[in-house]
Amino acid sequence: MERQKIKNILLNGETGKQVLVKGWVRTKRGSKNVNFIALNDGSTIHNLQIVADVNNFDDEILREINTGASLSVMGKLEESAGSGQKVELIAETIELLGKADPEKFPIQPKKHSLEFLRENAHLRFRTNTFGAVFRVRHAMAFAIHKYFNEKGFYYLHTPIVTASDAEGAGQMFRVSTLDAKNPPLTDKGSVDYSQDFFGRPTNLTVSGQLEGELGATALGEIYTFGPTFRAENSNTTRHLAEFWMIEPEMAFYDLKDNMDLAEEFLKSLIKYALENCMDDLQFLGNRLKEEEKNKPQDQRSMDLIEKLEFVLNNDFVRITYTEAIEILKNSKPYKKKKFQFPVDWGVDLQSEHERYLVEKHFKCPVILTDYPKEIKAFYMKQNADGKTVGAMDVLFPQIGEIIGGSQREESLEKLEARMKEMNIPAEEMWWYLDTRRFGSVIHSGFGLGFERFIQFVTGMGNIRDVIAFPRTPKNAEF
Ligand code: 4AD
Ligand code: MG
Repeated sequence: MERQKIKNILLNGETGKQVLVKGWVRTKRGSKNVNFIALNDGSTIHNLQIVADVNNFDDEILREINTGASLSVMGKLEESAGSGQKVELIAETIELLGKADPEKFPIQPKKHSLEFLRENAHLRFRTNTFGAVFRVRHAMAFAIHKYFNEKGFYYLHTPIVTASDAEGAGQMFRVSTLDAKNPPLTDKGSVDYSQDFFGRPTNLTVSGQLEGELGATALGEIYTFGPTFRAENSNTTRHLAEFWMIEPEMAFYDLKDNMDLAEEFLKSLIKYALENCMDDLQFLGNRLKEEEKNKPQDQRSMDLIEKLEFVLNNDFVRITYTEAIEILKNSKPYKKKKFQFPVDWGVDLQSEHERYLVEKHFKCPVILTDYPKEIKAFYMKQNADGKTVGAMDVLFPQIGEIIGGSQREESLEKLEARMKEMNIPAEEMWWYLDTRRFGSVIHSGFGLGFERFIQFVTGMGNIRDVIAFPRTPKNAEF
């Protein structure tokens, strides 16, 4: 007999039908004559209720059916009176596939804190919360490929190991093939890291953008979707050392086209989540309410589904960096000295400023454009004012910056001049500059931080809880 997924049984299961299911026990409760087992197989947030008449089964087996154990159950579906579901399974045979010692299995049928589950990250998939998060994450990855495929963008695989620093920010992890015990040394006796990748210095990529531009200036529209690495030692709820980024890059797009694409793209993903992940989103929304029930009313988040619908149905505000600085300088927290970081034309905005604009001032997502050139990367299009560049950051409630992007400088002359000012060696970037030497066109692109976006969709407060195996300064074990 073929195994059926619990999701399909709960959606389409017909009473009287014989089925085989396999999964993990979430809970078991019993009376003298029957045991009720909640079984989950990962296909849905919902459990299938298994009803086992104790007279039909071995005492030994029934005793071993504990939270975490794995079972194979065959039986008949019956209309369910009490379980809140259409059907339940009346067990005819139960095979115990793997025991779970209740004294040792850490995930018990009670509410565990997210901190506790982070310490048990290898088993946290077995909880409702993480099941929901990783199903939503999967759905969003699928929706990203679907969106770009339907628009005629090509998925380009850019390298993980590279000699270039795409952002020029120096936040790179070095990659080495050197023998750690016996490395080559410089004249001065220190390790010669310029030798580390078969004789060249290399690092893990911080962004696939520069290679993406090579693709876009031939294929027209491309996107990348892969892991990126930042060696920034920041222990925040928004930063990871290894995160996934989606980077579309488009020939013939100016900054306005870039903003339009970013807004349409984000909305299409939210729409997909609302249409395809409702059970999980409802669960996650309720979890958030429960978590925040002791907070004062004005500090509680908006209902998760209402929040997603709100972002889907409203235009993003678009203002310049200069206008944002004006708003911030006229704000209450600025006047009452409540901001931790300074606000002045020229400073990089901190997440407290971004969140003020989005959550308190406009109460909706904001796209900020035209930042001072000093705080942005070398490749951005230089504006006529000589001071700003055609950058765009998309700011979201609860998250702050979710997207960073720009129109790219297409003039070889201006780009080379800017690189010189910033001490970026043009000789090493000859391959990049060739796009401006041969058939240069205006083009634009952006990068969406996948985990920050998943935080927004699931309402999870900590970025470590939306990636299966978080890499942070303290975490690299598995
Ligand atoms: O703003 P960033 O650094 O932009 C770039 O890397 C450009 N090359 C993108 C492009 O134009 N193609 O990063 C883009 C996004 C940020 O807005 C943020 O959402 C996310 O990547 N991000 C991080 N997410 C988690 N942990 C980190 N340490 C992150 N750093 C950036
Ligand atoms: Mg940025």
